[in-house]
Amino acid sequence: MYQDFKLNGNRPAYLQIKDYLKALVLNGILQAGARLPSTRELSTITGVSRNTIIQAYQYLEDDGFIYTVKGQGAFIAQVEVKQEKELRLNWPDLLTGFARQATELDIEKKELRWEKGLISFKSIAPDENLFEMAAVKKAFLNRIALNGAKLLNYGYARGYKPLIDYLVLYMKNKGVNPDGKEILITNGFTEAFNLVLHALTDPGDAVICENPTHNTALKIMKLLGLRINGVPMTEAGIDLETLENALSRCRFKLGYLIPSYHNPTGLVMPLEKRLAVFERFSRHQVPLIEDGFNEELRFSGSHVAPLTALAGAGNNIVYLGSFSKILFPGIRVGWIMGDSSLISGLESIKRSRNIHTSTLDQAVLYEYLQSGEFDKYLKKVRKVYRKHHETAVKLARKYIPCRKIWGEGGLHIFIELEGIDARKLLAACYKHGVLFLPGDLFFTDNSGANTFRLGISRVSTAEMEQGFQIIGDCIRSLA
Ligand SMILES: Cc1ncc(COP(=O)(O)O)c(C=O)c1O
Repeated sequence: MYQDFKLNGNRPAYLQIKDYLKALVLNGILQAGARLPSTRELSTITGVSRNTIIQAYQYLEDDGFIYTVKGQGAFIAQVEVKQEKELRLNWPDLLTGFARQATELDIEKKELRWEKGLISFKSIAPDENLFEMAAVKKAFLNRIALNGAKLLNYGYARGYKPLIDYLVLYMKNKGVNPDGKEILITNGFTEAFNLVLHALTDPGDAVICENPTHNTALKIMKLLGLRINGVPMTEAGIDLETLENALSRCRFKLGYLIPSYHNPTGLVMPLEKRLAVFERFSRHQVPLIEDGFNEELRFSGSHVAPLTALAGAGNNIVYLGSFSKILFPGIRVGWIMGDSSLISGLESIKRSRNIHTSTLDQAVLYEYLQSGEFDKYLKKVRKVYRKHHETAVKLARKYIPCRKIWGEGGLHIFIELEGIDARKLLAACYKHGVLFLPGDLFFTDNSGANTFRLGISRVSTAEMEQGFQIIGDCIRSLA
């Protein structure tokens, strides 16, 4: 025994010895009462120093795995690890309808997956090669130096106060009147949307949104058992007449809209339309959730105010912001700005769910934002993504025969085909090493079979050229 111990990796040797001996106990190889070799003996057998073995024995004793008897050595303690009869539950049978539906709607599991060598247009995550890591490191060290160990203790459900104050100013700079409104920090848009829907809807309630819309939002609405009314997106954005008809006919609990760089169409709602949409929802007294996830990536034209700015001191818009596309998605920080009393309710739901968003992440993000690095970064990436988007549209026009290429910007383009099923196209493209998301995933009514979305943020121009050419060839072979 013990000859099979091998040191590996960077983990300290005494911890490796400790783990090794623990495993022998847990697997029943070393039984209670058995005497361990002396530290000198085990040092000789394993080839590690005696001090290392002494340290390992001390930790094992602290953990209650061994005990020492003066003058006799170390012995294995009584550690109960296994029952005589092992019970094997069938967990899939125990899953609720909610869990099953979540799995069913999980496109990461259900759709074709990326594999090495494929050109993938699935992702609309930012390109991490653009991240300014030196500035992130500096922000991390500065904030730790300033706030110290406090950052690692419990924080507040509302969020890290300096970040909240920063975001109030940030929203003011978008033209928002903050009077009577407050902010709650969330784990990105996805948690924010979940919180708001949990606070405002019951199963069976009707909600209204664009059709197509963000797949994750659609999934959350479905999981909550909501009746989803999708208003068609025309080339000029959401169809106002259908919107008005729907709002007149049905009592909606709330609306959900993505006014800037809409996912998946990439459209930006112009100011006149924003005013008209705002007027419709206000007149019918339907609260509106505005998803502002991408609006900072404005490529061209003048600033278009978010709907929440149009509301002035009114409180009918709940604004959801996120740093996922405009900065770092991995940091999982977003925010909700809305009426103070709503935020108070959301704060309690959040506290019941996950207490608060990681304070360390919020604090480092805050340091990065307030240092001016964020503004510099945005200036840089707007240019890069604009150019990339222009290239994508140019190459799509060149290689992809279709009815329409949608999108004014953002990290993707949306293609509408002429009478071809995008899922059949995907199957053909996949055989040639190209992946994208079929458009039906974004539609509220199972339509959109002739559409697909191409995420362009993380592919090179050469990959775009090659990938689009393959897509074009596959379209021609299916036509
Ligand atoms: C429409 C829309 N809103 C918000 C987000 C960001 O979500 P999160 O902040 O949870 O990463 C995305 C990401 O793709 C999106 O497409």
